[in-house]
Amino acid sequence: MLIDLFHYLTTPAPWAHRRGGHLRESVLLRSRSRRCRAAWAPHLAQARAVVAQACEELPRTRICVVLGSGLLDDVPFEHLAARFAEIRLVDVVHPWPTRWAVRGRSNVTLVTADLTRPGAVLAEGGGGSVDLVISANLLSQLPILPVARSGASDPDLGGRIVRAHLDGLSRLAARVCLVTDVEQREEDRDGRETDRLDLLHGEILPRPDESWTWDLAPFGETARHRRLVHRVQGYRDWHAACARSQP
Ligand SMILES: C[S@@+](CC[C@H](N)C(=O)[O-])C[C@H]1O[C@@H](n2cnc3c(N)ncnc32)[C@H](O)[C@@H]1O
Repeated sequence: MLIDLFHYLTTPAPWAHRRGGHLRESVLLRSRSRRCRAAWAPHLAQARAVVAQACEELPRTRICVVLGSGLLDDVPFEHLAARFAEIRLVDVVHPWPTRWAVRGRSNVTLVTADLTRPGAVLAEGGGGSVDLVISANLLSQLPILPVARSGASDPDLGGRIVRAHLDGLSRLAARVCLVTDVEQREEDRDGRETDRLDLLHGEILPRPDESWTWDLAPFGETARHRRLVHRVQGYRDWHAACARSQP
């Protein structure tokens, strides 16, 4: 709790992102990721592997943009740093572990931006010298706070936010790597499904290159006899996956 409070009070974040709840979410993500380190390890390894594969056979390695960089847990940062001339980390909040990890690296830039604003993906991931854009476990997170704020007044809001992010990725000239959770299952201790949630608000993605489960909240994390398991999809090359899915 004290560590959370330290992060909450000292992490640099614009007032709007504090007030909007993003800083709180970032602090909770850090503490949950540390509590669930062992349970999350296979998911993080899978995500990092997809990102590393996305770097293969790129004709040029000038700028890499990471959307939703967060704690850099699901991104093989050293792998990227060894390949790209420049790295831009984009998130609504840059927590201390990431700030410390990139300290002293003159080719790494932290960009603080709300990626739900109109045109945000093109603004951050476009540009002639960008060769790889990674959307790192961000897509399902984008609607959470706006949907909670809007209550039931705008039932299509979540779907619009998800679609706008995907449309933005599809319009980028660079190679795009997408890693996202798509569905949450709640299970009891007998493995019975007790609830299911579509994390993408009705958006159906093309067939992924890789798919795996993420033990997001093991038994005892949010409830003693329930656990939350997410299904995750990974795309080494989003443009190619979209092209494959065309009739
Ligand atoms: C599940 S975390 C994944 C983070 C990161 N890839 C990692 O390895 O820690 C989702 C990230 O999305 C960021 N995020 C949520 N809403 C955002 C928004 N509207 N704009 C930019 N980033 C956002 C959060 O701050 C968080 O860092």
